[in-house]
Amino acid sequence: MKKIFLFILLIFLIGCEQTAEPSPLPEDNFLIIAHRGASAYAPEHTIAAYDLAYEMQADYLELDLHQTKDGQLVVMHDRFIVNQQKEIPVADLTFEELKALHDESPGPRKPVSQGLQGEKEGLVSLQEVLERFGSDANYYIELKSPDDYPGMEEDLIAQLKSFDSLDGKQNTPWIILQSFDRKSLQRIHKLEPNIPLIQLYSFDKPPSFNESDFRKLTKYASGIGINQDAVSKELIDQFHQHGLDVHPYTVNEKEEIRQMIEWGADGIFTDRPDIGVEVKQEER
Ligand code: G3P
Ligand code: CA
Repeated sequence: MKKIFLFILLIFLIGCEQTAEPSPLPEDNFLIIAHRGASAYAPEHTIAAYDLAYEMQADYLELDLHQTKDGQLVVMHDRFIVNQQKEIPVADLTFEELKALHDESPGPRKPVSQGLQGEKEGLVSLQEVLERFGSDANYYIELKSPDDYPGMEEDLIAQLKSFDSLDGKQNTPWIILQSFDRKSLQRIHKLEPNIPLIQLYSFDKPPSFNESDFRKLTKYASGIGINQDAVSKELIDQFHQHGLDVHPYTVNEKEEIRQMIEWGADGIFTDRPDIGVEVKQEER
């Protein structure tokens, strides 16, 4: 009898396991998130692109993250690099090997940077970006394919903590983390509930979310990032009713930015942070 009672108590306690509330995002602000830096004007994910985004007063610098064989967190979009028409996974290369391949053929140059900022256009590690801007900038970091890199979440949090306190300035968190990978975000939430998390989505058709979706999301996420084609005022309202922010990507045209503000979005990912900041000021 005692055993049955203890068993029932155990099941009850497991059922009652509480995780911390998701961490809040800034209120009453429309965040300008510089997508891969000011990537309309300089090669994406480079110091040149992040310098421009910082000068343009973006609220956040957006970075995509992978991890090399020797454990370096590295800022780039794809999970592989193409060399001699072969795709080599980032996870199979050391940082030095990856950088050598990347900088050998870094991709097309943007006109504004031609001949001006060559030394700022190479592959960079997360550490290099953090060291350059420190706590003067805020970072909106995407774990791109965390399944490829076991332990990436722990390594990222340790690196952020060793660099600075995770406390943001005033109402603005210093770090926001984002991923399409729900399990990775849930893992981070358990490890470090003080970091606001954004669940990313991409839809071909108008999406629909039910109460069960919202119950799951609100356990770990502070908001969502979603392709702008899938966004409507109704969708934004629905997320707000559940206490979740909405950040559409990638919004580059003035009219589109105005519409997102009118619909009540909480920020945008944009390749043109100068335009984002301009429209935001006009609309205030
Ligand atoms: O992180 C939001 C958005 O950037 C997701 O798409 O492919 O540009 O990383 P991608
Ligand atoms: Ca991204």
